[in-house]
Amino acid sequence: MARVLVAEDDGLTRRFIEETLEYAGHEVTSACNGAEAICAVDSPGCFDAVITDYAMPEATGVDLIAHAQRLDPMISCIVVTAFRDLDLAMQAMQAGAVAFIPKPFKSMHLLTVLDRALERRELADEALRLRFLAPMLERFTMVLANALESKDYETQEHSTRLVGMSDAIARHLGIGDGMRSMIRFGACLHDIGKVAIPEALLRKPDALTPEERAVIRTHPDVGAAILADIDTWEDVRLIVKHHHEHFDGGGYPDGLRGDQIPLGARIVSVVDAFDVMRTGRPYQPARSYDWILEELQRESGGQFDPELVAALIAVMPTEGTTIAVPPLDLQPARRAAVGRRQNDMAIAAWLRGDTTAVRTPTLPA
Ligand SMILES: [Fe+2]
Ligand SMILES: [Fe+2]
Repeated sequence: MARVLVAEDDGLTRRFIEETLEYAGHEVTSACNGAEAICAVDSPGCFDAVITDYAMPEATGVDLIAHAQRLDPMISCIVVTAFRDLDLAMQAMQAGAVAFIPKPFKSMHLLTVLDRALERRELADEALRLRFLAPMLERFTMVLANALESKDYETQEHSTRLVGMSDAIARHLGIGDGMRSMIRFGACLHDIGKVAIPEALLRKPDALTPEERAVIRTHPDVGAAILADIDTWEDVRLIVKHHHEHFDGGGYPDGLRGDQIPLGARIVSVVDAFDVMRTGRPYQPARSYDWILEELQRESGGQFDPELVAALIAVMPTEGTTIAVPPLDLQPARRAAVGRRQNDMAIAAWLRGDTTAVRTPTLPA
């Protein structure tokens, strides 16, 4: 059911249109001249469609359409007229009419044209909503990823940088818009499974014990499980699940090799390693570009897909330029805040199943 404004000065035709629309279940408001019709369209969304005669006293159908379109660009306007004049049709289209019906017409013809016009309105509405929603979703995902990183000060803004570098590689490889968007989301959320890892373990400055390493290694599966219910994000889920697989099969969680590893996961894997080497971690210092280049080449075909190592090198931010690397977040003050001893005790307690010693993540201010 649509709300339709009918503007027609000929009483007989107006009654015919009203009855046709009401019979089809639409809600009709009628006006018998152009000025009255213009007054009736007083706010955006007050009508879904306008069906108007061209020649009416006080204002023409084109005046009415121009007014309605100014107020509500999504409104569907249809012109009915006895004049079979191409210029007039063009004028009406330019004002924003979506259809032009010559008189006399049958009721079925009118209803078919109205239905098509309303369908177009719905599609346009949907497209507009998506245009607003897509960037909002991207922003929200980034906020979520950065909030997660607050568990682990050393990795703050890591996801943001990964999104930029993964996208640059995807663009370099000529990957289409749809998949590139999935890769950006995958890069952003790759470590979302760390939400289940105790903060103390993520911040541990010493080498991890095998038991602790096993706990850390659960994060890709946890992340994939978190995203499992989002049907349209299968590609994102696979990136999250497989971002620690190695090209030679030596990674985790499934030991996939080569092309078995989704392309997005192979991209995120190489940029993740690049960013970790570049910014450093509690257990390893930040490295120079030359050092990283050598390491990437040494691991080409081992940990990383050789094609993607080449792509990363091609788009790699050069020293001190493209990607703003924040100051290393390894200041003693912050590490002291956690406290090594307190940290070790918290890890030991957590491994024993006592979660009271584990601090809850703090959200960024
Ligand atoms: Fe990870
Ligand atoms: Fe990462």
